[in-house]
Amino acid sequence: MDTSGKIIKCKAAVAWEVGKPLSIEEVEVAPPKCHEVRVKVDIEPYNTCAYTFLCDVGVTLCCFSQIIATGICGTDDHVLTGSFPKVEYPVIPGHEGAGIVESVGEGVTCVKPGDKVIPLCLPQCGECNSCLRSNTNCCLKTHLCEPQNLMPDKTSRFTCKGKQVHHFLWISTFSEYTVMPDSTVVKIDNAAPLDKVCLFGCGFSTGYGAALNTAQVMPGSSCAIFGLGGVGLSVVMGCKTAGASQIIGIDINKEKFAKAKELGATECLDPRDYKKPIQEVLVERTGYGVDYAFEVVGCLDTLTAALASCHIGCGVCVMVGVPPLGSQLSFDPMLLFTGRTLKGSFIGGWKMKDSIPHLVSSYMEGTFKSDALITHTLPFSQISEGFDLLHSGKSIRIVLKF
Ligand SMILES: NC(=O)c1ccc[n+]([C@@H]2O[C@H](COP(=O)([O-])OP(=O)(O)OC[C@H]3O[C@@H](n4cnc5c(N)ncnc54)[C@H](O)[C@@H]3O)[C@@H](O)[C@H]2O)c1
Ligand SMILES: [Zn+2]
Ligand SMILES: [Zn+2]
Repeated sequence: MDTSGKIIKCKAAVAWEVGKPLSIEEVEVAPPKCHEVRVKVDIEPYNTCAYTFLCDVGVTLCCFSQIIATGICGTDDHVLTGSFPKVEYPVIPGHEGAGIVESVGEGVTCVKPGDKVIPLCLPQCGECNSCLRSNTNCCLKTHLCEPQNLMPDKTSRFTCKGKQVHHFLWISTFSEYTVMPDSTVVKIDNAAPLDKVCLFGCGFSTGYGAALNTAQVMPGSSCAIFGLGGVGLSVVMGCKTAGASQIIGIDINKEKFAKAKELGATECLDPRDYKKPIQEVLVERTGYGVDYAFEVVGCLDTLTAALASCHIGCGVCVMVGVPPLGSQLSFDPMLLFTGRTLKGSFIGGWKMKDSIPHLVSSYMEGTFKSDALITHTLPFSQISEGFDLLHSGKSIRIVLKF
């Protein structure tokens, strides 16, 4: 059935207010306007590809088997608890998805119906002061500068029970169909398995890029990663790829240690096993402090500990975790005086439109093991169970399929 130009009714997970669980609702999704794209994040249930045997010998006919999915990121949890800035409720969260273009509005040239795409939680408009610079990916159309809870024309494409529902980061992937500006979507390899590469929309790219782009980890160096969730483990993979010789994973949940070691950590520590602060343990273990420390929890105490665990004269601390809303950082400025650096990393420093298709191609060539992050795949209807798993600490990445 041709749905272009028509309102589509579909399932979506709506956060009606802060502190309430998501509820699955029927929503109405309006057609894309000028320079907008409507993407189908859902498709038919998984069908075994009749041509699997051809895929085994490298022929890419797998597009017959369409699997479309969204991951759950720690940031989506921040939306439910109200600790993510500038969110307006009701809202449809989700920002780690992959899908297929259903229809495009006037003026869209970068994608066409039927293309496999990844929605981008950080736009690349190509025109703003940041997009024109080579040394930042922080497009000025980000939610930090320009709210992304409505489309650029300040209206919503989502309605539920007669009420307007807000967008999240312009992409809202917890919906079977979702509309986004053309600056926040990129075409990827048509053979890519969408239930795996959805992680490139946020978690994997964020962690991997924090090590390679933001810190620019040097071969032979020492690294400490605070927080071994999906993003922290991707930092571990990035440090390993960069050739770090000491990769120390730190988490208060020891169940994360086996996976961290599998992906490249040379040792793992639980701060609660030590009488001393963890930064002192790290300085002792490495002699002078680590060359690079990454905060991937989203907590000010761990950020200060990460900074203090860096080499006194040249250590680099990279902040990846989203800090609590409205919090203020306070630490002894002497930590910076002798030469430590504190820097932030937003989606791994990637200019997303330029980089994500290449990351997907590298994945298709087997360059990294991002699949190892996916511990659970659930039907979309079990999204609440997905969040329960995230809270229980028993999962790394959960992928939801409609
Ligand atoms: N900078 C960015 O662009 C960006 C992008 C995506 C996610 N994030 C943020 O990165 C953070 C991590 O995301 P995630 O999806 O991996 O989350 P997650 O919840 O899966 O992982 C967090 C990990 O931190 C551990 N932890 C909690 N308290 C700790 C402590 N005191 N010391 C050490 N470890 C502790 C938890 O046990 C868990 O393993 C979140 O704050 C998320 O919002 C940032
Ligand atoms: Zn995310
Ligand atoms: Zn821009």
